[in-house]
Amino acid sequence: MFKAIPYENISTYKDPISLFNEDGVVLVRDKEKGKVNPITIGWGSIGVLWGKPCCTIFIHESRYSKHLLDEEDFFSVCFLPKEQKKMVAYFGKFSGRDVDKIKESGLEVVDGDYPFLKDSELVIFCKKVGQTKFDESKISLPDIKNWCQQSGVHSIYFGEIVKVIVRDEK
Ligand SMILES: Cc1cc2nc3c(=O)[nH]c(=O)nc-3n(C[C@H](O)[C@H](O)[C@H](O)COP(=O)(O)O)c2cc1C
Repeated sequence: MFKAIPYENISTYKDPISLFNEDGVVLVRDKEKGKVNPITIGWGSIGVLWGKPCCTIFIHESRYSKHLLDEEDFFSVCFLPKEQKKMVAYFGKFSGRDVDKIKESGLEVVDGDYPFLKDSELVIFCKKVGQTKFDESKISLPDIKNWCQQSGVHSIYFGEIVKVIVRDEK
């Protein structure tokens, strides 16, 4: 159902520039509650860091997922098909603090060291290799700076890409 592809071949399946458009969902394990939590992301990039293929994501400090990412060493970035647009919107509206989003969505998680959504078209599996957070005093855009000072900043998580899989219809 899925096949592994080299990291360099992601562009064969999806444009890496618009990769994090509106269909990316990050899955992180909640060790405490024994569940997996999905969060929709629009910000991210793939490239190279410290000589390693790297996927970078940006998670705001108000998100439940931030607390999970701080505790967990792994995350997976799942790209869902257009038919699952409603679920992507749902994962981006509700918090895992209040609800078990996977349970409510009815979507299936393939569990293991790196859990991922079975409906994904492409999955990037990442091992966290570093993290930092924005220093709002260094943001040059006044509106964004004000917003961050009022609402808090995003943390930046760097994940070494350890595996990439795509749906294989054959
Ligand atoms: C299209 C879309 C893109 C989003 N991108 C991000 C993002 O890149 N980073 C982030 O922290 N939140 C992003 N959000 C907001 C979170 O998905 C949302 O706050 C979510 O409910 C947080 O879930 P959690 O509390 O379970 O972590 C996005 C939401 C949508 C709908």
